[in-house]
Amino acid sequence: MTQMEVDPTTALDMAGLARAWGTGSSAESLELLDALAARADELIPLAFEQGDEAAELEAQRFLYEVFAHRILPPWSPHWRDYEHPTIVEAHRKVGDAWLAKDRATYGAGLEVPTSPKGFGEWAVEVCENHASGVTHPLFDFLAEKATYDQLVTFQAQETPFDIHFGDLVALLLPGIHGGRKIELSHNFWDEMGNGTLERTHRQLRLDMMTRVGIPGEAYLTDVDSYWVEELRMANMYFQTSSLRSLAPQSVGMLQATELVVPGRLDRQIEGWRRVGLTDKDMVYLLEHVVVDVEHAEGWLNHVIAPLAEERPDMLLEVGIGIMRRLDCALAVCDRAHRELASEQ
Ligand SMILES: [Fe+2]
Ligand SMILES: [Fe+2]
Repeated sequence: MTQMEVDPTTALDMAGLARAWGTGSSAESLELLDALAARADELIPLAFEQGDEAAELEAQRFLYEVFAHRILPPWSPHWRDYEHPTIVEAHRKVGDAWLAKDRATYGAGLEVPTSPKGFGEWAVEVCENHASGVTHPLFDFLAEKATYDQLVTFQAQETPFDIHFGDLVALLLPGIHGGRKIELSHNFWDEMGNGTLERTHRQLRLDMMTRVGIPGEAYLTDVDSYWVEELRMANMYFQTSSLRSLAPQSVGMLQATELVVPGRLDRQIEGWRRVGLTDKDMVYLLEHVVVDVEHAEGWLNHVIAPLAEERPDMLLEVGIGIMRRLDCALAVCDRAHRELASEQ
């Protein structure tokens, strides 16, 4: 290597190392994989024990890069082979370290009611009173003050989680049967537009993105453009719906989503109307104001209540899922408010 050339194994971050893997000779590929494994070990204590923000950003980018590409089929033009054991292991290690940190934060001292009715009431109350709800100053800002471009920025930032929602529900489906399968399938079928392609939630979101000028593939091609808080949000759902041991957390996260989304969307719709969008331009948002209220109720009665009946010992995990999700949403709101309101 000449002095002018840059050694990719030291110049690239984890996501960059993963992307570069497999593009050069096999000797170079092995070096990249070694560098990736070493970087994971270096990054983990920095990101999840010492509170190093740059390290966490790098870790969340890597987690998302792999999650978002690994669910693609190989015929996708965006597909990347992230199934090499070294990549899988580094990804799992980073994810586990993050989970251990969140478990320590949310699990210790969390007490949840263990009867179906008690837990349901607790979940609704915690979600309704959380600071990430519609009372967060972000939502007044979006409804009353944000410019068109600022609404676009917020909508673009929300893509990594939103665009994957149907797939995240689908990831949760295997091995779950009975009434819970029906409720999950009901939610999934709504995501699938009840069988009408143009009404699938993914398509509705892509249509709105096209209408307001958000590139439709940026969530795969421009991972570095997202705030760490938004990557955390997507990664949290990918993590808990891909690992079966974390299914109870995923159930909690989905419950929280369905409970909090409608009110927050109302304010965004107000904002979009103010800057000139018509209802036809934002079917995606309008649709969720209606269906998520039904989903929240169905989820509580047909997924969480039977689980509480059968395995009350799992409810702490469901509770951790709810708390992780709510606090993650709060971090998103704080970041968005900080970024956008300060521009004015
Ligand atoms: Fe949806
Ligand atoms: Fe929903």
